[in-house]
This record gives sequence, structure tokens and C-alpha cells, in this order.
Amino acid sequence: MTEHVFGGDWTREKLERVRKYLKAYTTIFQRNQRAMYFTTYFVDAFAGTGVRRDSTSVELAETPLLDIESDPDFIGLQKGSARIALEVEPGFDQYLFIEHSKQRVLELEELKTLYPNRAEHIRVEQGDANLVLKTWCKNTNWQQHRAVVFLDPYGMQVDWSTLEAIAATKAIDLWLLFPIGQAVNRLLINRKPPPESWSNALTRTFGEDSWRQRFYKKSVQQSLFGEEELETKTADFADIQAYFLERLGSVFESVAKNPLLLCNSRGIPIYLLCFAVGNTRGAKTAVDIAQDILRP
Ligand SMILES: C[S@@+](CC[C@H](N)C(=O)[O-])C[C@H]1O[C@@H](n2cnc3c(N)ncnc32)[C@H](O)[C@@H]1O
Repeated sequence: MTEHVFGGDWTREKLERVRKYLKAYTTIFQRNQRAMYFTTYFVDAFAGTGVRRDSTSVELAETPLLDIESDPDFIGLQKGSARIALEVEPGFDQYLFIEHSKQRVLELEELKTLYPNRAEHIRVEQGDANLVLKTWCKNTNWQQHRAVVFLDPYGMQVDWSTLEAIAATKAIDLWLLFPIGQAVNRLLINRKPPPESWSNALTRTFGEDSWRQRFYKKSVQQSLFGEEELETKTADFADIQAYFLERLGSVFESVAKNPLLLCNSRGIPIYLLCFAVGNTRGAKTAVDIAQDILRP
């Protein structure tokens, strides 16, 4: 069963669950003889600034329906995953913070001053998370490295091909905020399939277009002008969740079965906090820990 977290609690809940996992992860990598061999990375690919803000701005070209600036649920959205990660003890060997905003990158660079003992191990990259991650996945020696990647976008900025690249390393544990209600369900309009640009965005997110058969049903209806073919939405949040977990399971070794459904103050689902692991040997332990952390 998925846990529901309502209202302003959800940002804190999200970051606290990820923090607990990071702590468990680095503890294992410090203590376990075999794990000790690896150089560990924490990658925050939608890093923000690392510091808390009262309000935030959002790029939501694909999701025009939400005025995030004035939504009380989004006030205080930025709670600083980068800083939370830097404060986890024992630490990671390396930290990579990716952010496309130039201003936020400058603020992330300041973390080197705020955390002088980590400074040498912090790298900040300005750019699109998808491009930077794919290059990093390709150029890292996965015989020697292990990583936790946190993807915390506002909307549908994560391409399926990026998740494939992460899974293909077989060395990364992934925490992903999937915008189930914040974006995906909004694009899945009721009485007909979404327009082309929205359909393309959904296909980019799910990595295939079979979402259309899963979420829409065709039927024939009599009208004044004869028979009319209709294609209407049948999917609810549970269907979208089940489909996305299935998609993750098609590329990752294992996926947590109890993702955390984060809801706004009106009880409407906005995000789904998911966990997936690529490494065969470590999968069971990682998923057991994540499922425990995700429990109500
Ligand atoms: C939800 S915020 C991240 C909050 C952060 N994890 C925290 O806890 O403070 C999303 C961030 O992603 C950045 N962003 C949006 N699209 C991006 C992209 N394609 N690549 C990299 N960063 C992006 C935004 O500028 C914003 O700072």
C-alpha cells in the first residue's frame, strides 16, 4: 500500500527519507569489506541551491495548469537536498551537483566554503541534468564506483533515456520524484487523448507510447450523425503508478514496491517518491532498506 503524505509535510518527508537512505548507504560502504573497495558518489541532478527558500520559480512549459508560485503547498519547496547530503555522516567520497540555472550554480559553489572538509570532493556542473548524467554514466568506471543519484525535478524534466543510462551502469541506486499528479495526470486529459506535444512529453517520460493503450479505452457511441468512435481516459493514479513502476522494473534490477505518494493540502497526489536499484548483487539489501524507509 502506498503511503499518503499531505500538504506542507511532503517536502520534509521526501528529504528525510532520502537522508535516511544516504546515511544507511554510506554506513554500509564504510563498514563492509567488499563495499569499501568502491569510490562512492552522491549525485543531485536537480540540485537547486542547497539552501532553503521561501518561494521558488518553476519552469513548467509542459504543465501550464499549475500556478506554483502562489500554491501554498510549494512554498518552502527548496529545503536543500545538497546540504542534507553534505551533512550525512559518514560522507560520500564524491558529490556531483547538477543544476541548469546559472544563479543557482553560483550558490551551489558556495557550499565548498560552507563545508570546507568536503570542498575538494564537490563538483558543480551547470547544464541539463539529462545530458550531464548520460555523459557522467558513460565516462565513469563502474568497476570502481558506486553511486546514489537523486532526481528531484519540478515536472517532467527527466527523460526515459536518462533512466535507461542510469540503470545500464548496474552500479547506481536511484531516488526519483515522479510527477504523477503535478504533471503526468494533468496531461492525461479525460475525453480524448492528449494533443501531440503532450503525448510526446508522456512518451519521453515513459520511454514508449503504450501508455496510450494503458490509460485510454476506445468505444463506439451512437450520435446524431451515426456511429462515433471515442477514446476516453480510464486511468486513475493507481494505474499510472503501477505502469511507471512496471516501466522502472523493465530496466532496473529491482524497484521498491511501496513508493511514497506525496499529496497537497487538498489530498491530491502531486509526486511519487520512487526507488530503484541497478546492481544485481546489492539489489536485495538496497530495496529492503528503501522499502523500510518508505513505510508509513
Ligand atoms: C525541485 S528543485 C530541486 C530542489 C532540491 N533538490 C532541494 O532539495 O533543494 C528543481 C531544480 O531543478 C532545476 N532544473 C530544472 N530543470 C533542470 C534541468 N533540465 N537540468 C538541471 N536542473 C534543472 C531547477 O532550476 C531547480 O533548481
